[in-house]
Amino acid sequence: MMDASRPHERPTAFDRMLTPVHRWIWSDTDRRVQKLLRFGETETDGGRDILRAAEVTSDPLLRRLYLEHAIDEFRHGILFRHRAAELLRASRSRTNIGFQGDWLAPGGHGLDDLQVDGESDQTMLAFLHLSEKAAASRFSVYRDVMQHDPPTRVIFEEILHDETFHMNYTLTQLARVEPERHKRHLWRARLSRLWKAYLRLATGLAAILGSILLTIQYFVLLPPFAWMAKRAAHREHFGWTMVSPGRSDSLNRQY
Ligand SMILES: [Fe+2]
Ligand SMILES: [Fe+2]
Repeated sequence: MMDASRPHERPTAFDRMLTPVHRWIWSDTDRRVQKLLRFGETETDGGRDILRAAEVTSDPLLRRLYLEHAIDEFRHGILFRHRAAELLRASRSRTNIGFQGDWLAPGGHGLDDLQVDGESDQTMLAFLHLSEKAAASRFSVYRDVMQHDPPTRVIFEEILHDETFHMNYTLTQLARVEPERHKRHLWRARLSRLWKAYLRLATGLAAILGSILLTIQYFVLLPPFAWMAKRAAHREHFGWTMVSPGRSDSLNRQY
């Protein structure tokens, strides 16, 4: 674990506003297990990408920092998965997964959007800084709404400590490798994240609207057809129907 000497990131106004939603999402044990498992995956995938970034960078200091960063992310993945397994063992029955609200309470980083190959050190650091900042903001809210589950709260607290360090070192390194234009890189990365957040939100809303429309169609459009089918069924004769002898001679048609 890296040492973070700077204060923790405060949650953004948007994350603070969604606190009641996060509290509701995390209150259910089934949902908590699924979310922790998914967070574990996100952290491990992020760690793999940062490991790749350590391979492709030509900057020795960045390579060392990326390696330590990747180790942190792998460890976060293990922490989340172990906690999910503990909760799973404690509650035993896992059948109802239900609503997960991933677009409302996503995994911390958004590191899944990362394309390492072809990125410069500058764009990579700008992207990482914003991802870690988002992670620190969300994890601080998740920690605060986890009063009912102290062991999970401790994990968020511990991971938050690392994410704050990741957020700070990436900004410091961005200012080192690009002292003149680092703000421009940050803005570009910010716009790109905004666009991806919009796409995620739109996908979530589209899924909800799709479910509502299909439900309306089911109750409004299907009943007339069911009624017509029933009426047609009433008109049918019951049992076998006699066919006149001449009509069943041909082998090319039914009657
Ligand atoms: Fe992490
Ligand atoms: Fe991180």
